[in-house]
Amino acid sequence: MKIKDKSFKVLINEEELQKKIASIAKQINKDYKGKSPLFIGILNGSFMFVADMMKHVKLESKVSFIKLSSYSNMSSSGSIKELIGINENVFKKDIIILEDIIDTGLTMASVTEEFKERGASSVEIATMLLKPNSLQVELDIKYVGFEISDEFVVGYGLDYDGLGRNTRDIYQLKPS
Ligand code: XMP
Ligand code: MG
Repeated sequence: MKIKDKSFKVLINEEELQKKIASIAKQINKDYKGKSPLFIGILNGSFMFVADMMKHVKLESKVSFIKLSSYSNMSSSGSIKELIGINENVFKKDIIILEDIIDTGLTMASVTEEFKERGASSVEIATMLLKPNSLQVELDIKYVGFEISDEFVVGYGLDYDGLGRNTRDIYQLKPS
């Protein structure tokens, strides 16, 4: 696949992705039995992950989305980003954050902190992808889809310069 000046090859295909998402949802159904968690997706990248995940969630639960100031081009800026659009009251709620990818972990660390400050009963993270070698903070991540190398990835919600979100597979940058 080509996007602008870059070439990408498939890293995780649709079938692997869907199987993993179903198994995470199954685990969440078990872990939150009798509870009513509030799922919060981080836009834009998580929209496909959230949609496919929620099809398997059997709990009485709400879904909402927040946005953070954007990740520009191909490297994480590392700066603390502002949350936009928390309309849901998170006080005394069991929050499950749904994220596309965790890189340095700085974004998730600040989002988690913010929800705790707002009085959430519990805050857990479910991420589709994790770059464990890039982590810069200690982060308790309860659900991880796939651990990947530091390679830049696109597809299935993830973008290169806003493009490439609309694929069923996840792609990795081909070395040029
Ligand atoms: P941190 O570093 O705070 O950043 O964990 C997480 C956010 O960075 C973006 N990100 C990527 N986006 N391909 C992308 O399309 C990547 O390989 C990649 N690595 C990090 C992503 O927006 C995530 O929310
Ligand atoms: Mg994102």
